[in-house]
Amino acid sequence: MLNEKAEIRAGVLLSGRGSNFRAIVQHEQAGYFRKLRVVCVASNKAGAPGLAFAADKDIVCLDKCAADFESLADFEQYIVTEMKRLGVDLLILAGYMRIVGKTLLDAWPCAIVNIHPSLLPSFPGLHAHAQTLRYGVKVSGCTVHFVDAGLDSGPIIGQRTVPMLDTDTEETLSQRILEQEHELYSECLKRITEQAWSIRERTVFFDF
Ligand code: GRF
Repeated sequence: MLNEKAEIRAGVLLSGRGSNFRAIVQHEQAGYFRKLRVVCVASNKAGAPGLAFAADKDIVCLDKCAADFESLADFEQYIVTEMKRLGVDLLILAGYMRIVGKTLLDAWPCAIVNIHPSLLPSFPGLHAHAQTLRYGVKVSGCTVHFVDAGLDSGPIIGQRTVPMLDTDTEETLSQRILEQEHELYSECLKRITEQAWSIRERTVFFDF
């Protein structure tokens, strides 16, 4: 159980901008977490801008990307080997734009989390904001969930809502949701690392 450990070491996987990664580390630096410590970051894409944020911090930046390997499974094995060497207990996906394969899922059972910019189970997968606008819903938001073998389908840890505006474009909606993502992700990470929880069926229950 994650929350039984005195310190929980986290690795982050991203693909691009990395604003969620930055927000989590900033919360950590501000003393928000009692146990969580981000120890390393990696990207499947070479030169992902988000990696730069690790540069002057005590965070190991893994230097290989998916293109350095013959298959996604080989890239995942590299992540597992390097992150386990650093004692990673929890894998945080922060804008990681690949399906998570069996290699990662087996290495961190019930210990991989993701954030998605919609109220799941609505609008999973790519282009969530465009899907949201096209459907015409009146409320949207973001979801933090455990990762399973499906597409954005794992047990939900937390959600925040954002009202839709008639004037919304993909840009304005994603910006408004992103502000909530930056708070929600750290809030959920705090809960799963500091509180007792369990999953029954597919519902995450917190004991207090
Ligand atoms: C976020 O909207 C997140 O919900 C989604 O990808 C985006 C990543 O943004 N999974 P950033 O790289 O964290 O800025």
